[in-house]
Amino acid sequence: MSMDTKKAFLRTKFFDRMCHWTMVACFFLVAMSGLSWFFPSLNWLGSVLGTPQTARVLHPFLGTVVFGLLVIMFFRFVHHNLPVRTDIIWFRNVIGVLMNRHGDNLRIGKYNAGQKILFWGIMSLISVLFMTGIVAWRAYFAAYFPIPVIRVALLAHSLAGLALILLVIGHIYMGLWVKGSITGMLTGYVSRAWAKQHHDRWYEEKIASSSETPSKPHS
Ligand code: HEM
Repeated sequence: MSMDTKKAFLRTKFFDRMCHWTMVACFFLVAMSGLSWFFPSLNWLGSVLGTPQTARVLHPFLGTVVFGLLVIMFFRFVHHNLPVRTDIIWFRNVIGVLMNRHGDNLRIGKYNAGQKILFWGIMSLISVLFMTGIVAWRAYFAAYFPIPVIRVALLAHSLAGLALILLVIGHIYMGLWVKGSITGMLTGYVSRAWAKQHHDRWYEEKIASSSETPSKPHS
């Protein structure tokens, strides 16, 4: 890492990084097995969970783990993802932001408006996936629901799954595009320059709070 670690800002705490990456590992297994049933040409993807039988057994359990970890992340991240008035400035400058040609006074807090939309999109889709997944979970719950309800649940489950996978592809793409953000999610730290460029209001808050209480880490 080339950044000055003494001056770097803690962006994501260890506990939150563990939640994120454990959830990502499970998400890939769940998403790949799910896609293997949706597109016949992707049948082979199901082998990430062993045989078709073990994949069918494990998919709902791992999906429940993904849901549980995202619920934890919801409560730990939600206060940074509530809409604020200044989000409008980000929307007005979105082209410049995407081209990385924006000024440094966009009043962006810890997460920008695009990240907030992603946050709420992920959280709503995972809720739909969890509720419809319970209805379709043959081994434990499906017997409590009439067959037409299970059919509708499975249709909604597939659509929500596809939408979430597309959102996550966008999320990964942005993570790669904005250099330094993946390092932030891996090590917890981002450079001051990164903070100033991408999250100017959060940067100012960090500067202000670090001069008040120099020894206490903030996130
Ligand atoms: C290889 C896959 C992934 C990579 C590289 C990645 C990368 C990142 C990075 C770098 C951040 C921090 C952004 C920042 O500090 O501004 C982040 C946050 C986050 N990620 Fe991921 N991620 C991946 C997969 C996922 C998946 C599969 C999900 C959920 C289905 C997810 C959900 C989230 C959430 C909810 C946040 C917090 C964002 C917020 O509160 O606005 N990530 N991710």
